[in-house]
This record gives sequence, structure tokens and C-alpha cells, in this order.
Amino acid sequence: MEGYLQQHEIRHKGRIDLVTEMDGRSEQYLLGEIRRDFKSHTIVTEESGILQGNQDACWFIDPLDGTTNYAHGVPIFSVTVAYAIQNRIVLGVTLDPTRGQCFSAERGKGAFLNGVPIHVSATRELVDAMLVTGFPTDLKKSAKNNLDNFSSFLMHVQSIRRLGSAALDIAYVAAGWLDGYWEIGIHPWDIAAGTLLVEEAGGLVTDLNGETDYFKSPYALVTANPVLHAKLLTMLQSTNGR
Ligand code: IPD
Repeated sequence: MEGYLQQHEIRHKGRIDLVTEMDGRSEQYLLGEIRRDFKSHTIVTEESGILQGNQDACWFIDPLDGTTNYAHGVPIFSVTVAYAIQNRIVLGVTLDPTRGQCFSAERGKGAFLNGVPIHVSATRELVDAMLVTGFPTDLKKSAKNNLDNFSSFLMHVQSIRRLGSAALDIAYVAAGWLDGYWEIGIHPWDIAAGTLLVEEAGGLVTDLNGETDYFKSPYALVTANPVLHAKLLTMLQSTNGR
């Protein structure tokens, strides 16, 4: 928040893939806090790569999810952290510092917004659903740019949002504010906390083949309550010729 709406030192990881000095500062802070108490753990980070350690105890951190929003001054960004034991996420937290909203989940103990339990929506029909998605940063070069899925859904659902922070997109599905999320070409640090949030909030998370073993490359997700999830999956599979 200290750097929000200030001038930034912007570096380009790709032509449209930005990083600010605040991504680095936030990451260094998180790394310091985790390393202080858990010296032997592995930490998968957006900006510093993988800090190798015990693979069975692994953290995922995105120090600033929604960097493009942040760099433009749009107040939709988050800090998201998750912890996995043997590749199974057991703890996830996504913080929206602009609204003071902290989404958290611990496996088997539920999902919460500032300590109050949250649940996915009960929306059953596509026509009543407000979905959210994002686009990969290589969309100008790749055929897998999500545009075909976007246009198919747009003709069948109530509405689609593109908020710009995948971690918040998924947290909003867990809170029942948005009904469903899908994205292709996403990164593990963007979605690690969110997947647990949604599962603990009563939602279903799979890859685009409907497999629950989704936390692996190439990262692609669809998530919603179980009834709506089945309809989203059918739509995605017919659009992608499966
Ligand atoms: C991005 C955001 C965006 C998603 C992109 C991500 P970043 O993360 O989560 O919503 O569509 O795929 O790369 O780069 O702002 O941390």
C-alpha cells in the first residue's frame, strides 16, 4: 500500500508482463518471514524462482498478484501465499490490502473472510452466472489465448469479468460473489491459495479435463459449485473440441 498510486520503477518480463519494485519488496519481506521460521522449506516465488529445500514442505508466494492493475493505479491486487505438504495445499491466504479483506483457508477447517466463514454461490444455471477469467501474458503469440472460451461463455452466461488478479478472482468465487472462474496458462503461485479457498468453501476445482489432479503444468483451472462446474466444463470441452 505504501507504493500504491506512487511512481514505479517498471521492468518488463515480457512486452505486456510487468514487474514493479514493489513486487520485489513484497517478495523479500515474505521470504524473510518464511525463512526465519522455516529454514529447510522449499519456496516457489513469482520473482525469485524456486528456492530449493525440503520438497515435501513447500510455500507458494505471489507478492503482488495484479501487478498491471497496481502499476496503473487500479485498486484490484493482492498478496497471496500458500503452503503445501507433499504437493497438497493445506494452507492458503489471499489479502486484498486496499479493502482490508483477508481470505484464508486451512484444509478441513473451512474458508473465511476476515475470520467469518464463506461459501461458494448456489447458482445452478449458466444464464444466471457471473464468471471471471484472465488471459495469459503470451496471448499475442499463442493460439491458446482463451479468446475462444471467452466468446463461447459470453453468449451463454449472465456476465464475465476480467479483474486482473487471479488470486482475487478465485477468492471471490469462494466468497460466492462470483459464480465461477476458469483460466489457462496460469502460474502455480497465482492459484495455490485460491484452490484451497474454493474447495474449503464447498466448490469443485479441476483442470479442463475434469481431473482433480490439477496442480501441475500446464496449469489450467475451472472452478465453481459442483452443479455449475459440470456445465462450465462441458462448455469448455465443446469449445476445445474434446
Ligand atoms: C496475473 C494476474 C492475472 C492473470 C495472469 C497473471 P501477475 O498475475 O493474476 O489475473 O490473468 O495470468 O499472470 O502477473 O499480476 O502477478
